[in-house]
Amino acid sequence: MIAMTMLRDNMAVFGGLALPLIASFLVVGVTCSYKYPEVRRDAAVIDEYHGTKIADPYRWLEDPDSEETKAFITAQNNLTLTYLEDAPYRKELRSKLTELWDYPRRGIPKKRGEKYYFFANSGLQNQWVFMVQDSVEAGEPRVFLDPNTLSSDGTVSIKTSSFSKDGSLFAYGLSQSGSDWVTVHIKNVTSGENFPEILRHIKWPSISWTHDNVGFFYSRYPSQDDNKNETGRETGSTEHEKIYYHKVGTAQDKDVLVVEFIDKPKLSLSTEISDDGDYLIVLTYEVINEEFVYFASLKDSLKTGFQEKIQLQPLNTEPASFSYVTNDESLFYFITDLDAPSNKLVRVDLNKPEKKYWSTVIPEANEVLEWADPINNNFMFTSYTKDVKSTLELRHLQNGSLILEYPLEIGSISSTSGKRKDTEFFFKLSTYKNPGIIYRIDFTKDDLKPKIFHETTSKIDSSSLVVEQIFYKSKDGTKVPMYILYRKDLVRDGSAPAYLYSYGGFSSSIEVGYSTSYLVFVNNLRGVVAIPSIRGGGEYGKDWWDDGRLLNKQNCFDDFASAAEYLIENKYTSPSKLIINGASNGGLLVAATVNQRPELFGAAVPEVGVMDMLRFQKFTVGYYWCGEYGCSENKTHFDNLITYSPLHNIRLPKNETVQYPAMLVKTADHDDRVVPLHSFKYVSELQHTIGSSERQTNPLLIRIESKAGHGSGTPTTKLIEDIVDEYGFYIRALNITFYE
Ligand SMILES: *[C@@H]1O[C@H](CO)[C@@H](O)[C@H](O)[C@H]1NC(C)=O
Ligand SMILES: *[C@@H]1O[C@H](CO)[C@@H](O)[C@H](O)[C@H]1NC(C)=O
Ligand SMILES: *[C@@H]1O[C@H](CO)[C@@H](O)[C@H](O)[C@H]1NC(C)=O
Ligand SMILES: *[C@@H]1O[C@H](CO)[C@@H](O)[C@H](O)[C@H]1NC(C)=O
Ligand SMILES: *[C@@H]1O[C@H](CO)[C@@H](O)[C@H](O)[C@H]1NC(C)=O
Ligand SMILES: *[C@@H]1O[C@H](CO)[C@@H](O)[C@H](O)[C@H]1NC(C)=O
Ligand SMILES: *[C@@H]1O[C@H](CO)[C@@H](O)[C@H](O)[C@H]1NC(C)=O
Repeated sequence: MIAMTMLRDNMAVFGGLALPLIASFLVVGVTCSYKYPEVRRDAAVIDEYHGTKIADPYRWLEDPDSEETKAFITAQNNLTLTYLEDAPYRKELRSKLTELWDYPRRGIPKKRGEKYYFFANSGLQNQWVFMVQDSVEAGEPRVFLDPNTLSSDGTVSIKTSSFSKDGSLFAYGLSQSGSDWVTVHIKNVTSGENFPEILRHIKWPSISWTHDNVGFFYSRYPSQDDNKNETGRETGSTEHEKIYYHKVGTAQDKDVLVVEFIDKPKLSLSTEISDDGDYLIVLTYEVINEEFVYFASLKDSLKTGFQEKIQLQPLNTEPASFSYVTNDESLFYFITDLDAPSNKLVRVDLNKPEKKYWSTVIPEANEVLEWADPINNNFMFTSYTKDVKSTLELRHLQNGSLILEYPLEIGSISSTSGKRKDTEFFFKLSTYKNPGIIYRIDFTKDDLKPKIFHETTSKIDSSSLVVEQIFYKSKDGTKVPMYILYRKDLVRDGSAPAYLYSYGGFSSSIEVGYSTSYLVFVNNLRGVVAIPSIRGGGEYGKDWWDDGRLLNKQNCFDDFASAAEYLIENKYTSPSKLIINGASNGGLLVAATVNQRPELFGAAVPEVGVMDMLRFQKFTVGYYWCGEYGCSENKTHFDNLITYSPLHNIRLPKNETVQYPAMLVKTADHDDRVVPLHSFKYVSELQHTIGSSERQTNPLLIRIESKAGHGSGTPTTKLIEDIVDEYGFYIRALNITFYE
């Protein structure tokens, strides 16, 4: 689980505001200043960090349930909606987005038992539907599980799904209103009926079935409050994750605690069962990618059932990333970055797990080895990221030697399916031009070429789309890759609007992918979309990540600002037409970069961002990010965090001709990853310090969505309304024209 990544499939974002609003800005001369809501400043809250006093006047906004916070939300949404409703072309935007979103699409098929399962969306369905088909090419697909029937407004989504080994039982996790909290339900595939038990107190479930089809391992937190179900609006720290064994057909309170690390409350735990069913693998970390792996043989307990704690043996003594590939009895294959910043594939004998006995199956290369999928018993597919493009190769499993290289279009392999014993492999390739082609490779045939299995046809003709990849120099000379998308007929005179998006954190890579909203920006706003892979991501391995985290975090903001300068110098756009956007860690990126370089941008939209760098570790699972940012308890890190923390670096620009860009801060009431209080405190400070200046004619607004969370699981209706609001904001703030 990467704690803060956000997939931007069709752009992750949030839907319509619930409150009816009335105008509340003043006309001052020819320009507008905005009458922002009065937000109380509490001068009494002052913290001392290593001898430095830091005021926190909006501490009271950290309580989501107080009447004062509720009034704040109402008043801010009121002002924002008033502004947005007056944006031109909203109707046109909504009807264009709705028309273009409405095409049937489907995900990759997975064989479980004798049947094939896949997710599908007929076009505008709020949530994707889980379908079943009797054979890969014949038989009509039928609905297996339709989350759209589970709520009237589409806010219940499927977060995870897992079949027992024989395919007869199905466990699935549901989330409400975009929260990370999940309830796990179990269905009998034959009868179609659900078992009575519902498992709670779970986030990011790694459901690992034992091969006897009796039950599964999963991890959960202690109950937050025995008298209440989790809602996703809690802000308290979630600690003490533990692993339990659940026997299907029994109540959750009968689950057996099998693994806990009592003295490590902040450890994240996840499980996997080896391909042969004989081993339990436990992955643990306090800092993302700094994992310690444990294992246990299940051979004896499978005979007796799981009634007590499992004795684990450690695999590694130095922290590193590990991903299990497969095993032949005690010989395990892992991809790891231990002593290999771009990853390598190693074989470890569990009888002699010390590093000196490991053997290298695929040595480290210049490109990053992303994954290896075993197939057809003794083969595997591998994929590298090479300058932000996926590769695909076929190899011998036991010695890694190369059999075939598959040439691919510029794109990312977004999903794969096929297990060790299977003779077929599916992969889905996404590109900026195409919503995804699913290929199938069939080992029962001589010809191992991928055949198109399913192709999605969107409603957008992308024949006039240019996809350019350039490399620009950042402040310190580092070469950074950037994709730039625009129409062939773009006139490069600096007049076009540009939308610059990035993330830069947690070793999470930018993936090439189709986006209806990007294409609307390019085609209907006649704009440029630019997506750099700044440092902090994983595109070039661990070094690229390390160069953008902890004391090196400033490199991310420099890389982002340098991308903006490249676009301006090369006349793709100009500052008054340049928009920056990012979410989560990317929301921090946008807000920090605006504080440092306000003159570079016309508009900025930080979404669900981490804004208070001194206190993020106190809420929900924020403590996981101490390995990314460092925490204010440590003086070295405090001294660094205070240089860029968005909340603490808002100052009226010294240059009197410069103001802040038009800003639309976005958050949602059920975001329990990056809790909304970050955005509340940040926008209050922004309006107080910047918005009170006469020079500031650009609006500084916040949109607080209801019944939505950090981004995943957002229903289609809310996604479309959100883009109408966001693009409407750009159109109004930057005077952009909409073309049919
Ligand atoms: C919105 O703001 C206006 C002007 O301040 C006020 O009259 C109105 O009551 C507000 N509406 C809501 C729903 O809060
Ligand atoms: C699932 O349902 C089938 C058909 O009703 C039944 O025969 C089977 O025993 C059920 N499986 C379990 C594990 O309850
Ligand atoms: C939790 O939710 C379930 C319904 O999903 C309900 O049956 C149960 O009573 C709730 N528990 C509490 C303590 O509210
Ligand atoms: C790798 O293993 C395969 C299958 O056993 C064998 O055919 C091939 O020659 C081996 N390659 C090398 C380089 O050892
Ligand atoms: C504080 O952080 C620095 C830099 O990462 C580290 O070297 C040091 O050991 C930390 N201090 C404490 C007390 O943890
Ligand atoms: C102030 O900002 C403007 C606009 O970015 C710039 O052209 C000008 O050179 C700046 N003035 C100074 C003194 O830096
Ligand atoms: C807005 O754009 C239109 C069309 O490009 C232009 O004619 C108009 O002058 C612009 N308005 C302002 C206030 O810049």
